[in-house]
Amino acid sequence: MISYARQDPKEQLDVTSPPLDDHIAPAPRVSVQAFCETMETAAAVQSAGEDRRLGKAHLKIQMGGMAAAIEAYRTAPTPNVIILETEGRSDILVGLDQLATVCDAGTRVIVIGRINDVALYRELVRRGVSDYVIAPVNTLGVVRSICGLFSAPEAKAVGRIIAIVGAKGGVGASTIAHNVAWAIARDLALDSVVADLDLAFGTAGLDYNQDPPQGIADAVFSPDRIDTAFIDRLLSKCTDHLSLLAAPATLERVYDFGDDAFDSIFDTLRTTMPCIVLDVPHQWSGWTRRALVGADDILIVAAPDLANLRNTKNIFDLLKASRPNDRTPLYCLNQVGVPKRPEINAGEFAKAIEGQPIATIPFDPQVFGLAANNGQMIAEISANHRTTEMFLQIAQRLTGRGETKKPRGSFLSPLIDKLRAK
Ligand SMILES: Nc1ncnc2c1ncn2[C@@H]1O[C@H](COP(=O)(O)OP(=O)(O)OP(=O)(O)O)[C@@H](O)[C@H]1O
Ligand SMILES: [Mg+2]
Repeated sequence: MISYARQDPKEQLDVTSPPLDDHIAPAPRVSVQAFCETMETAAAVQSAGEDRRLGKAHLKIQMGGMAAAIEAYRTAPTPNVIILETEGRSDILVGLDQLATVCDAGTRVIVIGRINDVALYRELVRRGVSDYVIAPVNTLGVVRSICGLFSAPEAKAVGRIIAIVGAKGGVGASTIAHNVAWAIARDLALDSVVADLDLAFGTAGLDYNQDPPQGIADAVFSPDRIDTAFIDRLLSKCTDHLSLLAAPATLERVYDFGDDAFDSIFDTLRTTMPCIVLDVPHQWSGWTRRALVGADDILIVAAPDLANLRNTKNIFDLLKASRPNDRTPLYCLNQVGVPKRPEINAGEFAKAIEGQPIATIPFDPQVFGLAANNGQMIAEISANHRTTEMFLQIAQRLTGRGETKKPRGSFLSPLIDKLRAK
């Protein structure tokens, strides 16, 4: 039997500018076989297969539509997902009835068709079709349809990964990651976790004034134990909405990991945490590249010099090429205005990167130094500091959310409100 449908037919989306709240959770390791009728659909399915969100799925594409599918599964077992392109109306239903006789339990069927009609859609649902997508389909439409089969509808807000990385060492990427995550948790009231991926030298524990006995190393060195309960025990609570998956910051071990060493940690975090901020160390290895490529959004932190400019451009180019269906990465400038230091200004950066920085954060050694040494955030040291507002704006930009809490206002606010009401 084909499993039961639960989705509405969807509109096609513009691939070039997906809206911020249009989050698609990656699909698990599933097998997908597509039987297309047109080259356009085959091309869309092909490029969907190359999307990061289907990185774990195994995709096979054939031409021949419904007839080829029925023929293929007469002898072979069916995969987790079958995608069928079909042009007519009656042949869909007849074909599906035939297919149902050869389909294994648990196989889900996505139909791509040209007819936009509720009656047809109902018939498809009755036959257990999981999703009906109206042609012409685009890459993201196919990605969304496949991934949608495996993400629970109530998990819609769950699991956005934001990766923050420096274009060079020491540019303040971790400081920005911690302050932004703190703002996401406090001002946007979004449950968040900071995963400190700088296992040897990470400073998240210091910055949040936490010294937990356990953290990310316990997970990455015991991959067999990873599940939600296990990861939950490794988190240390920093504030109401903010938790930390701390780095050990010890040197007894070395931290050479395989490309996918962190996959199951991220997948597990995604199931329970709406926002996961990765503090990615400035290094280029299989697993750091994978963490960046696999993130929902990326912020590159750069200081205003030539090496940072070159590296930002290189990271940008690489990420744009490996994530053709995603928003482009964002970047911000940090430590701007060091006395007597010649700097490359934001305009020149914007020209080379072909995009504006989302923030230009001033160099302020007094406040940043105090915050680092006290284990506090900038907003705790100085609520009115101009970077406090910048961190909030970055938080909003990265999460696609506006502020939820009202500004605290002065002690006169209630009075002013009363007067206004009158
Ligand atoms: N805007 C700023 N003004 C002054 N000091 C800053 C600013 N941003 C960060 N710093 C300081 O710069 C130092 C390096 O910051 P941080 O550790 O966040 O950088 P990083 O890019 O994560 O470095 P690493 O490459 O070691 O991971 C810290 O002492 C931090 O307090
Ligand atoms: Mg760092």
